[in-house]
Amino acid sequence: MNRDSAIGVFDSGIGGLTVLQRIMEALPRENTVYLGDTARSPYGTKSVETVLRYSFENTDFLLEKGVKLVVVACNTSTAIALESLKENVSVPVIGVIEPGVRGALEKTRNGKIGVIGTEATIQSGAYSRALKEKDSGVEVYSRACPLFVPLVEEGWLDNAVVKMTVESYLGSLKQSGIDTLILGCTHYPLLKKTIQKFLGRGVRLVDSAEETAKQVQTTLKKRSLARERGKGAPSFFVTDAPDRFIKVGQRFLGEKVESAVRIER
Ligand code: DGL
Repeated sequence: MNRDSAIGVFDSGIGGLTVLQRIMEALPRENTVYLGDTARSPYGTKSVETVLRYSFENTDFLLEKGVKLVVVACNTSTAIALESLKENVSVPVIGVIEPGVRGALEKTRNGKIGVIGTEATIQSGAYSRALKEKDSGVEVYSRACPLFVPLVEEGWLDNAVVKMTVESYLGSLKQSGIDTLILGCTHYPLLKKTIQKFLGRGVRLVDSAEETAKQVQTTLKKRSLARERGKGAPSFFVTDAPDRFIKVGQRFLGEKVESAVRIER
């Protein structure tokens, strides 16, 4: 493992490509290895025990590839498994929650912060714990939005069904007077425009993917692990047939996923 080793990124499936995209933009010299556990996605409705096991298996795969750092792009995995992964893995492990929390605390003016995510993420209380640990004065309003994931994967980002769903999930958050909302799921950045429109310009949206890329950059620099020359390239691995990943991937990555290798699970 050295400066030229790749950055490993895993997610329950396709959504983590939003995080990969930001990493590739911020660190164009770095090679990346992305694993999408498409055969076992979604994680957001699964038990703690199962998400823990999957997260360790994904990390082991990336370590076998010789990565120098692991990014847990999935909010659900971060909420449930990040601490145990950090304790058991010898390379730095970065999740998406802490960067999102930092971004939210920088942005809020009135201390009222909303968090949206999968059922498992919200139930874990990880965001609200992390926010209160850093600032005990903040008020946190959380809401699980499970239907956002299938809507985004269907490519429905701003039609009437999406608008109704946004209204119904976020209505009470709007009422509570939040001025900042953490998009605590890989898929939600794609709904930014629709969510922003509903909540109005007074509410700032925090995209964890952007904040996570910043943290990856800082960590590599601090540990003298940043690659200094060349142009990086991504490689993709999935646990189910790659067709759908390749087809839908572009929407999340902003560029074409040329190919993905299926691994056995
Ligand atoms: N990647 C998941 C997350 O960010 C969303 C999809 C799923 O439930 O697996 O929480």
